[in-house]
Amino acid sequence: MTSNMAPRGRSGQPAGALTRPQGLARPVDVSGLVDAAGGLLDRIIFTDPQIYQQELRRVFAPSWLFLAHTDQFKKPGDFFTTYMGEDAVIVTMDRTRTIRAFLNSCRHRGARVCRADFGTTRNFTCTYHGWSYDLDGALISVPNRTGYPDGFDTADWGLVEVAQLDTYRGLIFGTWNPQAPPLREALGAMTWYMDALLDHDDEGTEVVAGVQKWVLEGNWKLAAEQFATDWYHVNMSHASALMVLTPAGKRPKDEIVHRTGRQYVDPKGHGAGFPVHPKNRFDAQPVHEWTDYPALHERLGAARVQGPLTNGHATVFPNFSYLPVVGSLRIWHPKGPDRMEVWAWTIVDKSWPEEVKEAQRLYNLRTFGPSGIFEQDDGENWSEVQAIAHGFVTNRVALNYQMGLGSEREDGRHPGTTSELYSDAAGRAFYGRWQQLMNTPAWHEEQT
Ligand code: FES
Ligand SMILES: [Fe+2]
Repeated sequence: MTSNMAPRGRSGQPAGALTRPQGLARPVDVSGLVDAAGGLLDRIIFTDPQIYQQELRRVFAPSWLFLAHTDQFKKPGDFFTTYMGEDAVIVTMDRTRTIRAFLNSCRHRGARVCRADFGTTRNFTCTYHGWSYDLDGALISVPNRTGYPDGFDTADWGLVEVAQLDTYRGLIFGTWNPQAPPLREALGAMTWYMDALLDHDDEGTEVVAGVQKWVLEGNWKLAAEQFATDWYHVNMSHASALMVLTPAGKRPKDEIVHRTGRQYVDPKGHGAGFPVHPKNRFDAQPVHEWTDYPALHERLGAARVQGPLTNGHATVFPNFSYLPVVGSLRIWHPKGPDRMEVWAWTIVDKSWPEEVKEAQRLYNLRTFGPSGIFEQDDGENWSEVQAIAHGFVTNRVALNYQMGLGSEREDGRHPGTTSELYSDAAGRAFYGRWQQLMNTPAWHEEQT
């Protein structure tokens, strides 16, 4: 570690002259823990504290991470607090109406300068000793200012700003990595699949107020991986939920779960799976009745309307996932190797009438809210896997990700590489990308 990662104020100047010794962050070589080509995984990557710390440094710090929706910022001073990895951040609109993001940690003794989940403010005043920061991160007030030495300059002690911020169709992403490629490049062909959720018409999407948050006793990768690659679990894990949703006299598997579809496999670790059906439709009746499917055909094309428009699952590497059919966006915040905090938004089309938006909100809550009939099944699985993963013998037994080995190809209908709907291909790509980042020194580890 070098001064490259030293705290910098908004002036960009490092404040202070501290240097960390190398040994504090000695990297683990994870080459033998993931066999992406052979579909094998060592489950120590879900339990080891040293590997977890390395994820924060080499996976989360360098990657583009989802922060919030632009709809959450309507006027200067609107803010939303979240995390990037385990780093607490504030996202806010400054006086020039520019959305910016800062480390939510006071430069004095490190307390959070904003302890609310969201709101509107004129500045961020730390409740410990009262240092106060403007909406652009500048330190504007220091109690007992005359007590500091002559060389103390408030310009050196502004909030640390997220290095790059960008949006994609209303979704705000940020990265600490000043050298990260542009967001569009990082998303690549994944945008074609994301547009099936975000680009129904020119008006775009908005969020239903509030973010639902809950804690699960499982490693964050279990959830991110499943949303990238796992349609396979649906029949078994969600059997009872599917029964509830099946019309009387029909068999659940025939009515609800299609076996024909594709899985998008991105070498950058993104993934999406979706059944393909000529009569694909939104589940919530009011949304279905309101939807102009021919117009969507015109805008998005048949491949997207019959596939990822409504159904399936997706993960944008590393920890942002979404479910098109219910408009659920979610982050799997890492909270140590054994715990994640799920944050979930509902997004709707701005152009929908209020009753249609409300129908989608309720449908999302009932299915994928914290007590939703599907969500509970998924959380139970991840906690179950984690609960026994620390066992000495258990932890040494490899896991199987071999479904669909060799099935990856260009199918001529969907961009990029795809596999079968039932496949671990996107999971192998997810862990391949994880392994690559874990074995690559991040920008902050470069020698200066
Ligand atoms: S920790 Fe913020 S003012 Fe002291
Ligand atoms: Fe599920």
